[in-house]
Amino acid sequence: MAYAAGGALAAEVSKAGGLGFIGCGYTDASWGKREIDVACKSFQLSASATSTTLLPIGIGYITWYLTEHPELLEEHLEYTKQTPLAAFWFAYGDCRRFMAMVRDKSPQSKIVVQVNTVKEASDAADQGADAIVVQGHEAGGHGPVLNSSTIILVPEVVSMLQSRYPNRSIPVLAAGGIANGRGLLAALALGASGVVMGTRFMAAEESVYHINAKKAVVEAKDGGTTTMRTEMLDTLRRSNWPQGYNGRVLRNAITDAMERGESLRALQKLYDDAKASNDAKGLAIFAGSNVGLVNEILPAGQIIANTMREANQAYHNLSDMLDV
Ligand SMILES: Cc1cc2nc3c(=O)[nH]c(=O)nc-3n(C[C@H](O)[C@H](O)[C@H](O)COP(=O)(O)O)c2cc1C
Repeated sequence: MAYAAGGALAAEVSKAGGLGFIGCGYTDASWGKREIDVACKSFQLSASATSTTLLPIGIGYITWYLTEHPELLEEHLEYTKQTPLAAFWFAYGDCRRFMAMVRDKSPQSKIVVQVNTVKEASDAADQGADAIVVQGHEAGGHGPVLNSSTIILVPEVVSMLQSRYPNRSIPVLAAGGIANGRGLLAALALGASGVVMGTRFMAAEESVYHINAKKAVVEAKDGGTTTMRTEMLDTLRRSNWPQGYNGRVLRNAITDAMERGESLRALQKLYDDAKASNDAKGLAIFAGSNVGLVNEILPAGQIIANTMREANQAYHNLSDMLDV
């Protein structure tokens, strides 16, 4: 998660049994290196010291941005030559060239591709992705305007992969709307092998998102009414997302002004002023429609422990209900 997931969050997620990723979308290469160092320190490793084990975190890229800044991946591959990363994540664009770079320079690392359609999932499998993240439109952050919900997309992708690749087991990870153990169990029931939780960890203690933004997410309830998908925040942030994408954000004074039809100039001023003072009323706060399930800022390790405990409990309740 760009602007949220640095080395500390990635490391704590991995220590608790997940796989944490540093989000390098929109950054320069030095930011990623610094965050890799933070994670290394947390595992008492050094990026420059030869290690026999992988650094148990991943690093994520926004593919269209990486196409404009390929040096990000080149430099990170060079930087982690001695201590390779467990995984590389690509999303939003054609990543074939970057997958080849990872296979060449860091063959021990796994490649995770996030997709939003059945066709993209089939392309990612054809291209040799080790795991596929299937992101529904509930998700916080970006996705294509034409996108279905997680509950529909995950089983459709799982069935497609089973029939297209009967002898290859490609893990599918469900993303979008999952913020607790009940969501995890539901995703497993849909055929996923695991889940990706974004909004829940954006409000983790270790996330580098501004505290005012985390508090706004924790306070928000009923995400169908308090979040929306729009391109406007990207325009105001001067971010060049390609046509056909928008992002799910918390509704706030900016989106209200946009809906009242205020001029772009007025919106830009609102945004720039809010950014200068980190006022959540006018920031671009990327968050999913699951905000109502995120009620506390917690350490990442605690989030994972709670999620696993709740999934277990929900599983037993279900067994009782189904009498199995
Ligand atoms: C603050 C934030 C930043 C995100 N940044 C990225 C990103 O840089 N690259 C990416 O592939 N996905 C990004 N995502 C999407 C997540 O990878 C994930 O698909 C999504 O958060 C899952 O849905 P959820 O938010 O409902 O948990 C971001 C999500 C959030 C909330």
